[in-house]
Amino acid sequence: MATPRRVNNTVNIADLRQLAKRRLPRIVFDYADGGAEDEITLRANCRVFDTVTLRPRCAVSSPCPDLRTTVLGTTFELPFLLAPIGSTRMFCPHGEALAAAAAGASGAGYILSTLSGSPLEEVKAAATRPVWYQLYLVGGHDVARAGIERARKAGFSALVVTIDTPVAGMRERDHRNGTRQLLTRKIGSMLPFVPQFLGRPRWLARFIADGGLMNFPNVMLPGGPMAYADVGTALEQCAVAWQDLRWIREAWNGPIVVKGVHTADDARRAVDAGADAVVVSNHGGRQLDGVAATLRILPEVVAAVGDRTEVLFDGGIRRGSDIVKALCLGARAVLIGRAYVYGLGAAGGPGVARAIEILRADLLRTLKLLGCASTAELDRSFLDLPTGWPAAAP
Ligand SMILES: Cc1cc2nc3c(=O)[nH]c(=O)nc-3n(C[C@H](O)[C@H](O)[C@H](O)COP(=O)(O)O)c2cc1C
Repeated sequence: MATPRRVNNTVNIADLRQLAKRRLPRIVFDYADGGAEDEITLRANCRVFDTVTLRPRCAVSSPCPDLRTTVLGTTFELPFLLAPIGSTRMFCPHGEALAAAAAGASGAGYILSTLSGSPLEEVKAAATRPVWYQLYLVGGHDVARAGIERARKAGFSALVVTIDTPVAGMRERDHRNGTRQLLTRKIGSMLPFVPQFLGRPRWLARFIADGGLMNFPNVMLPGGPMAYADVGTALEQCAVAWQDLRWIREAWNGPIVVKGVHTADDARRAVDAGADAVVVSNHGGRQLDGVAATLRILPEVVAAVGDRTEVLFDGGIRRGSDIVKALCLGARAVLIGRAYVYGLGAAGGPGVARAIEILRADLLRTLKLLGCASTAELDRSFLDLPTGWPAAAP
C-alpha cells in the first residue's frame, strides 16, 4: 500500500501522534495515549530520558553503524520489538497483522497480546520474522493452556508473561470517554458518548465494516471467544503469581520472558522462577501510577540479573536516542509501545512502517554522532547520569 503524503511528511513520533489524534475518535486515541490516574508515571517514563545526557566521541568515523541485536538466540536487524498492545485492531482493521508485517519488513520483532482483536494464526501468517506471544491468564489456566498450545502450533517463538496486571489500572480518560457506558450497548447509556464517533466518519465506517466491537479470539471460553466487556473482571480473577511460572514452563518448552519487572528483587525472582529474559516495564504508566520511570530502574535490574539473563526495557521511548540510552544502560533490546500505535492510528500499516523508519534513522544518526560503530558497543561511558544514579558500570 502506498504511504500517504501526510505520513511521509512526518518528521518524528510526535507528528504521528498528532495525525492519530486527528483521525481517531477521542475514546480510541485516549485509550492508547493515556495512562493511570494522574499519569505521573506515564510522563516520568518520557521525561527521564531528558535527564540523561550523551557523551560523544568526536572525530571517530562510523559511516554505517550496525544496529543488530540478538535476543533469545534470534538476531533482529533493529534493536527493538513492537510491544504487545491489546485491541490493536481498534486503531485499524487487521491492526495486529499489519503491525507484525511492518515489523518483519524492517527487521524489528513483534509481540502479540493475548487481548488482540485478531486470531493469533492470522497474525503469525502475516509475519515474516520470529514473533512472540504475550500471555495473560484470562479465562483461567485451561483457557491459557489452550492459548499457549495454539501459539506453539502457530510457530510463535517466545512466550511473554506479563506480571503487572492483577487488575486493570484506573485509566481515567477511558472512564470520562464512556468506555463502560458504551459497552452496555444500551442506547440510553451510550447516547451521550456517540458524538465523538460522528466527527470521525472514515474511522467509523471502517470499524463497522470490520465487525464493530470486537471480542478476543485468542481467549476461547467454552461459549466462544471472550467478550470485550468481560476483560476487566477476567484480569482480576486470573492474576499471575510466581508459582504459575512452573506450570507455564511445563506447557511451553520455548523461551519465557517475564514482562513488568519494577525492582531488582522481582528481577531475581523471575530468573529464579526460570525466566530466560525479563522486561523492565511499568506497562507504559498504565497500571500503578507513581512508580518510578523505567529508565531509572534499568541499572539496578541489570546489576542484579544482567549476568544471568537478558534484560529488555520499555517505557517512554519516542526517539532513537531514547533507545540508545536504554542500550547504554544494559538493555539488550527495547520494546516500542505507543510510538508504533500512533503510526497505526495515523495510517495503518504504512504508519507503523513510518514509525519504525523514524526510529531507525534516529538510531543511525545518533550512533554516527556519538562516534559508535554498533549498538553492541554502546555502554555507560557514552552517558552522563544524574546525581544519585548508580555510578559503576554494570
Ligand atoms: C494501548 C495499550 C495497550 C497495551 N496492552 C498491553 C497488553 O495487552 N499486554 C501487555 O503486556 N502490555 C500492554 N501494554 C503495555 C505495552 O506492552 C508496553 O509495556 C508500553 O506500551 C511501553 O510504554 P510506551 O507506550 O511508552 O512505549 C499496552 C500499552 C498500551 C499503550
